[in-house]
Amino acid sequence: MARPPEIRIAPDSHTWATAAAELVQAVGQEAVHASGRFLIALSGGSTPEALYRSLTAPAFADRFDWSRAIFFFSDERCVPPGDARSNYALANKTLFTPLSISPAQVHRMAGESRDPQAAALEYEQRLRDITNTQSSNDPILDLVLLGLGEDGHTASLFPGSPALRDNRSLIAVTQSPKDPPIRMTMTLGAINRATVILFLVAGAGKAGIVRAILDPKTEAERQLPASLVVPESGRLIWQLDRAAASKLPEHRQSRSA
Ligand code: 6PG
Repeated sequence: MARPPEIRIAPDSHTWATAAAELVQAVGQEAVHASGRFLIALSGGSTPEALYRSLTAPAFADRFDWSRAIFFFSDERCVPPGDARSNYALANKTLFTPLSISPAQVHRMAGESRDPQAAALEYEQRLRDITNTQSSNDPILDLVLLGLGEDGHTASLFPGSPALRDNRSLIAVTQSPKDPPIRMTMTLGAINRATVILFLVAGAGKAGIVRAILDPKTEAERQLPASLVVPESGRLIWQLDRAAASKLPEHRQSRSA
């Protein structure tokens, strides 16, 4: 039986970024304590930038031994790593470089590949090799970060995408209604095995879809990609700010981060 999601609501965008950074470091400490390393998948989109900037700020930068972290991506746009639309490019500029993360610790999806399907298979194999996971099983990442689109997509799993029914692959190639059109993404199988899944969602523009996912009224809302993120045995945490939580029913708005 899946645990109910933990909904954390920060009063404003500044405390949201600090709360998200504290969560990431707390999960990281637990992982390093348990296994000596921290396997984390970064999310795409613009929302993580505030988190990355918090993690590299003086208040946080030295509070965690980042040399223990191994970075993956929960999705990537099929563009070169230097492209402004690249999820790797944002993480490299605002997280890896400021923290002097060694390239050996970073496993990015090859968005520049002319054969995204082959690149997806290669990434799946690398995920298995690094997590020592045979093909019969799914790897367990310590933390998977996810964003949320206004249509209910998460990672690059869009409403109606065949990848939502793919329970064999860990990494799939998908079509996006948003630019850029071709994406690589972790599947629900890879995401739902994680020890901790953390949705990072902020801003009034997301209030409607947050309500649809966390307080669904229809079967269509229950079938949205983000609604299908249900950890097999891990924790599901939503780090919201007050604006993104503004359409949640009162009883869901009580807990503040
Ligand atoms: C991507 C993302 C995507 C993103 C949402 C939210 O590569 O686009 O992984 O799922 O998280 O679209 O994007 P914003 O954070 O920019 O609102």
